Amino acid sequence: MRRHTTFRQLEIFESIARLGSFTRAAEELFLTQPTVSMQMKKLAENVGIPLIEQIGKKIHLTPDGQQLAQATREIFNILSHYTMSVAERQGLKQGQLRLMAITTASYFAPRLLGEFARLHPGIDVSLRVTNKEQVLASIADNLDDLYFVGQPPEDIDVVATPIMDNPIIVLAAPDHPLANKKHISLERIAQEPWLMREKGSGTRNAIERRFAEHDLNIHPRLELGSNEAIKQAILAGLGISALSRHALTLNAPDQFAVLDVKGFPILRHWYAVYPAGRQLTVTARAFLDYLLGREDAAPSMPASQGKAKKGRNPCIARTG
Ligand code: PGA
Repeated sequence: MRRHTTFRQLEIFESIARLGSFTRAAEELFLTQPTVSMQMKKLAENVGIPLIEQIGKKIHLTPDGQQLAQATREIFNILSHYTMSVAERQGLKQGQLRLMAITTASYFAPRLLGEFARLHPGIDVSLRVTNKEQVLASIADNLDDLYFVGQPPEDIDVVATPIMDNPIIVLAAPDHPLANKKHISLERIAQEPWLMREKGSGTRNAIERRFAEHDLNIHPRLELGSNEAIKQAILAGLGISALSRHALTLNAPDQFAVLDVKGFPILRHWYAVYPAGRQLTVTARAFLDYLLGREDAAPSMPASQGKAKKGRNPCIARTG
């Protein structure tokens, strides 16, 4: 790599590698797209080998590009730690906090982040909300400071801290015939038309596991890719479903009937997770402490933690 490779070029390259798009990198860095393209052309000339390939509309990193992406991530992590150590001396006056949340966590994550950002206005915060696969890929690549998930990954070595209860409740339209019934059995509720989240959703897995524990199957009438779509379908009278209680955060209290079903709510937790090898930045540690100090934090500890070990601050170190 020749001498005139600039820090800016590496910064743009890192952003493209992380976001998978020139346009999004340009937006993130407040640059025009021609500037981004030109800088990447210069970077490839400086390095002397192609780093990024475009196939149709998609861009891919070449193997050399992937190596450079890894190197830039390490450089930025080191710099970020340096900035944090300065911030520590200045008492959290400045710094960066990068969070990623799985879709359903979007009901509470922005609020928590907003409260923390108000307490520490000098800290630059970012939150990406995305699906499970992308969260897992980012944890594996060590891209963000903390991740909000409903289930710690099994096959990545992480430290997972339960930060809040996440009850899964059964919901129906308010005029549903079961709306005022008590102690509805799982057998009875299994016969209802179910509206289910897409395969791979943590909520869906939890529901299917609960029925499977009782040798019951439910038959999805509709499969929908978001909690909001499920709520609309319930109100349209298409069936019932079970969602995180947090999915009702913005709904009027009587908009849905919460059915009294034996075996529900399913008691799950929200976890803040980070890769076991990662040293938390001062800001991320302060945010985690802030989460655990909140009134509605105090999660009831998970009943079963498998091979997990309890650590400090009810942390669970999981090894895959
Ligand atoms: P999800 O929620 O259903 O949006 O995947 C995460 C989880 O509850 O595990």
